[in-house]
Amino acid sequence: MNTKRLSSTLEEALSKQMNVELYQSHTYLAYGIWASDNGYAGISNFLFRHSQEEREHAIKFMQYILNRGGKPTVTALASAPGDPQNLTDCFNKVFQHEVENTEKIYRLVELAFDEKDWATWNFLQWFVKEQIEEETLAMDLIDKLKIAGGDKASDESLFTLDKTLGETPDDADLARDATSENP
Ligand SMILES: [Fe+2]
Ligand SMILES: [Fe+2]
Repeated sequence: MNTKRLSSTLEEALSKQMNVELYQSHTYLAYGIWASDNGYAGISNFLFRHSQEEREHAIKFMQYILNRGGKPTVTALASAPGDPQNLTDCFNKVFQHEVENTEKIYRLVELAFDEKDWATWNFLQWFVKEQIEEETLAMDLIDKLKIAGGDKASDESLFTLDKTLGETPDDADLARDATSENP
């Protein structure tokens, strides 16, 4: 008996996204190495943790496809993007990668909607929310660096920024989660 509860189109599209998340993980690993090599221990730690988070996203896709009776395929990954030019470039690229990934998630949501596959549609809502967090996190990085002085930041303010990011939580606080006690 066929117990697959996913269309072949969605099975393939979700499997592709699993690989996209693995590539995101790949990318942040490479940026983390670049940051570490340039002496930004805190920023590299932040990027390594983020790389791990992207891998967990891939696993979420894998598990969902399996749970629905499908079979995901791990494909070859392209090499990670080249080194960023500087910190501004690095954070801008993190933001860009997140926005591109959001677009991909939206296309999956559209696909699930068109097929009236509400289970998949519901599963994907977690990622819609997650992408808001990730974009906010990337915007925060850009803002923090701007405040520190951008590419012309002094060694001292970069040192402080690096230290802050090393200790920063993995998830951004969203306006939605704010309360009057904890704005
Ligand atoms: Fe992700
Ligand atoms: Fe992400």
